[in-house]
This record gives sequence, structure tokens and C-alpha cells, in this order.
Amino acid sequence: MKNVALITGASSGIGKELAKIHAANGGDLVLVARREKELTELKYSLESEYKVQILIIPRDLSDINTPAEIFAETEKQGIQVEFLINNAGFGGHGFFHEREIEKDRAMVNVNITSLMLLTRLYLPGMVERKKGKILNVSSTASFLPGPLQAVYYASKAFVTSFSQALAEELKETGITVTALCPGPVATGFFDTANMNGVKMLKTQKAMTPAKTAAIGYRDMMKGRLLSFDNGLLKFLLNWMVPLLPRRWVLKVSRMTMEK
Ligand SMILES: NC(=O)c1ccc[n+]([C@@H]2O[C@H](COP(=O)([O-])OP(=O)(O)OC[C@H]3O[C@@H](n4cnc5c(N)ncnc54)[C@H](OP(=O)(O)O)[C@@H]3O)[C@@H](O)[C@H]2O)c1
Repeated sequence: MKNVALITGASSGIGKELAKIHAANGGDLVLVARREKELTELKYSLESEYKVQILIIPRDLSDINTPAEIFAETEKQGIQVEFLINNAGFGGHGFFHEREIEKDRAMVNVNITSLMLLTRLYLPGMVERKKGKILNVSSTASFLPGPLQAVYYASKAFVTSFSQALAEELKETGITVTALCPGPVATGFFDTANMNGVKMLKTQKAMTPAKTAAIGYRDMMKGRLLSFDNGLLKFLLNWMVPLLPRRWVLKVSRMTMEK
């Protein structure tokens, strides 16, 4: 396989669109998610349309042993991963003290731990070859705390912080790290997070996953530090929110998540 991108969460939404873009550019793929049927359908459709090679690895990333298993599988098959796209992730609505702790533990494992472990496993090879790009799918949620989605917002704060720190550490190596920070995107994300009916979704227009993926892929190729699909949110979060009183920010953030 050549020009390989490993994409987690490729069975739907932004990850599936990222897979389509990479295949359209002639790159081979390793696709990871739990839903094997969706991954298989995507594999056959992209292989026949773009004449690329695709390996699917159906796995649950909430199991923290999964990243090592994925790495072992690609090593066994002699696959060099040139693009690591950590996209799998999910949210969850509600008061933290009332939510099922197992769901939040799984969220941390998928959104943070698996992302960190996969990065740790694939990065040394990239550094040795002086070639590689990492795209971590974070969120505009990473720029402020999120009452009623406390763990999700905090998990994305990790992703944006971690990605930027690595980008600086790797500056001399030729490896780039980009954090994609989308605003709302019309995917299955809102159903999974039990977010339907929240005020944010009534006031903000969701992007299509195809558009968000195109922006993220372009910015990964350019080696940009941060990638945004929503200019207004980019401006507010970078230039307004840091200057506003914290209690006020928390209040408004909470309001956007209320139903
Ligand atoms: N949609 C938005 O508004 C939005 C905004 C900002 C950031 N994001 C981020 O964008 C990324 C992609 O989400 P999306 O919007 O495209 O939603 P999505 O359509 O629900 O996609 C989520 C993907 O993650 C995978 N995934 C979830 N749990 C997993 C697990 N335990 N093990 C392996 N894979 C798992 C899912 O695959 P399986 O179910 O097949 O396992 C699916 O492919 C996420 O990191 C999300 O936080 C989304």
C-alpha cells in the first residue's frame, strides 16, 4: 500500500468524507470504526471508484488496548502510515453527576486516550522517515468549558492543546500536526450525544460533513496548526471569548446547550 492514511471513525460523518477525499487523491487507506458493515461498503465503493487499496479494522476505540492491536495489524501487513487522522469521537448531553459514568469513561477513552496512544504508536516511524502528517479532529468546543457537555468539551480541549504542543515539538522533523476545530456539522453526532433540541442547533447553521472534511484535509496538507470551518466562531473564540468575564462565558455556553 502507498500514500496511506489511517482514519478512525471512518464509518460515517466527517471521517467517511475524509476517506473519500484521500481516495480521490489516489491514496490508500486503513479505516477504523466499530460498524463493520459501513466500513466494508465504503471500502468496496472507494476501491472500485478510485482503484485504491483499503484495509478495514473494525474495532472499539473505547477499549484502550485497541490502538496497540491496530498498530500490530498494520505492522504485520507492512503498512507505513503517512497520514494519521484521529477523527473518532462522540459527545454526551446532561448534568455530569447524573450521567452514566461508563459513557463518560468511554468518551475519554475514545476522544483522548486512543488518540494519544495511536499518535504515540505511529509518530516514531514518521519521525524516522522524516515524513508524515497528523490531523486530530477537535472542535470549537475545545476553546471554552461546556456546562451540560462537561466531559466532551474538556476532552476536545485536550485534543487542541495536545495537537499544538506536538506541532511545536515536531517543528524540525518535517512532521505536521493540525487540529481541525469544526463548529456544528450535520452528522449522526447530535443523535449520539442526545443533543437534539439544544438551543445552539436552533441558532447556528450546521456545515455539511463533506465541506468540513475538505477544509480539514486541505489544512492538514498545508501543515496548518489549527483549522476552522466557521469564520464567525473562529473570530469569537479566538478574539472575544478570552477577553470576556469567565462567569458570563460559562452562562452563555450553558444556555447554548439547554433544550
Ligand atoms: N458533528 C459535529 O457537530 C462536530 C463538531 C465538532 C467536532 N466534531 C467531531 O468530529 C468527529 C467526527 O464526528 P462526526 O460529526 O462525523 O459524527 P459521527 O458521524 O457520529 O461519526 C463518529 C465516528 O466515530 C466513530 N466512533 C465513535 N465511537 C467509537 C468507538 N468506541 N470506537 C471506534 N469508533 C468510534 C463512529 O464509528 P462507529 O459508530 O462505527 O464506531 C463514527 O465513525 C468527532 O471527533 C466529533 O467530536 C463533530
